[in-house]
Amino acid sequence: MVEWTQEVPTERSVMLPPDPRVLDSIGRNHSLETALADLVDNAVDAQANRVVIRFIRTQRGLVALYVLDNGCGMAEETIDTAMTIGGRREYGGSDLGHFGLGLKAASFSQARSLIVMSRLAGQQPVGRRWRPGVVSRSDFRCDVVTSSFVAAEFDRNWPFDSASSGTLIRWDDVSAFPATTDTMQIEAYLDHTITLTCQHLGLTFHRFLADGRLRIDIEVLDVENALPGAKVPVDALDPFGYPQSGLDDYPKTLIAEMDGHRVEFRCHLWPKPSNLPQFRLLDRSGDHQGLYFYRRDRLLQSGGWYGVHAADRRLKLARVEVDIDGDMGGLFQMNPEKSRVQTGHEFARLAATARAHDGTKLSGYFEVAERLFRRSQARVSRRTAMIHPGQGLPPRVRATIQNEIPAVRSVDPIAIRWDNFIDDAFFRIDRDAQTLWLNKRYRKMLLGGKHGGLNDVPLVKSLLYLLVANVFEGEYLGKKDKDNIEMWQSILTTAAQAERQ
Ligand SMILES: Nc1ncnc2c1ncn2[C@@H]1O[C@H](COP(=O)(O)OP(=O)(O)OP(=O)(O)O)[C@@H](O)[C@H]1O
Ligand SMILES: [Mg+2]
Repeated sequence: MVEWTQEVPTERSVMLPPDPRVLDSIGRNHSLETALADLVDNAVDAQANRVVIRFIRTQRGLVALYVLDNGCGMAEETIDTAMTIGGRREYGGSDLGHFGLGLKAASFSQARSLIVMSRLAGQQPVGRRWRPGVVSRSDFRCDVVTSSFVAAEFDRNWPFDSASSGTLIRWDDVSAFPATTDTMQIEAYLDHTITLTCQHLGLTFHRFLADGRLRIDIEVLDVENALPGAKVPVDALDPFGYPQSGLDDYPKTLIAEMDGHRVEFRCHLWPKPSNLPQFRLLDRSGDHQGLYFYRRDRLLQSGGWYGVHAADRRLKLARVEVDIDGDMGGLFQMNPEKSRVQTGHEFARLAATARAHDGTKLSGYFEVAERLFRRSQARVSRRTAMIHPGQGLPPRVRATIQNEIPAVRSVDPIAIRWDNFIDDAFFRIDRDAQTLWLNKRYRKMLLGGKHGGLNDVPLVKSLLYLLVANVFEGEYLGKKDKDNIEMWQSILTTAAQAERQ
């Protein structure tokens, strides 16, 4: 027998406060979008119904970012707790806050300076600043910002009134901002970042955005000409927003109960793979099958089966809504960034007990989802095959065409490109180069002020592709094909000239 005891003798204790450098490591899992979602969480908890995210641009490039809300604001005492790392408050039953960390972790992950400014009706506005680089080299000393500066920041030209109360967060030296003054690069960065942020916030808060509890706008302010650019509203992106359910008796709610826990699985079926943004979500693969965990209406996790089933191409149409309340007795845990849920090993056992009123189990749902997917594929494969397009169309348009039309095998894709023509013809079919050429002299008009690029004017290109793709097939151009090309050329060239006038 080996000697072993649970008890460990100790003789005294020593005080080991954390080194402020731990701050360097918090929020490491954040991206700009998830960090902004954390600030929006706080605005929602403060009963705000408007949020604006503003990028600040000067001749030096992008320099700062603001997030303003019209929520309840903070007084002197609360703002100190708010700035405290791990400073928790009493949380209500619908609060999104939980760890007392979000604001700091999100901000420190993105910026070298966080300023929190807030005001309450009839009180002096208050402001605090943390600079994580400085905090981590000193003790936890926080700068108190003058109330006249805070008042001036609130008095800027904001798109909604936060005079009675509101909170304004400011990030300087945002690490993700490109270190350049090149206009094109900044435009490209803003374009990409605003799109990603709209998608992420649109998805995370889709329930709030859809029923009007919340409105979020994103804008860019060019300080030199003092004009805020166009506001981009964040639209709800509902992963269950299919036009019609895949089957009439779906969505179906399955209820699981075990050891006093009760969890509802609301099982949905998309009718077919779709190119709607709600189906494709944040990337183009459009395969976001699995469980969607919500806590207090905020989406924590989109997709993944958590051991309930293996990921399987044939389950593409299956998405399940699960409302949970944060940490539940070892069943679920959310990460501090609130961008993921972890489930305990009991979870799969709980899921196996799920039943609908009519007796349907999750296994039955998976079978139905697979059958529906096979049927949707069969319908597509009955369509006449076409040569698919290659270079010239945006990847998502090409992906849709791949979803909708079976491909003619072992033939190169049709490239769609611009060229200088000697005449006015709108297009030219080049079977040797497997290319559909468009006449460059109509390009500017078709772009209507937008930047050109390899994948520009997708609508015109798609229409033309659908019209002419078939003439790229076969050994020779038949008589009928030649006549068709002549007819299309005559009509489209006249139309292009008419449009140019
Ligand atoms: N926009 C805001 N309006 C009013 N109060 C705010 C705002 N942002 C933060 N606060 C206050 O600051 C506190 C700390 O925010 P922080 O995000 O760090 O933690 P939390 O929201 O309590 O929890 P979690 O870590 O889960 O986000 C909040 O509890 C709230 O009292
Ligand atoms: Mg928070």
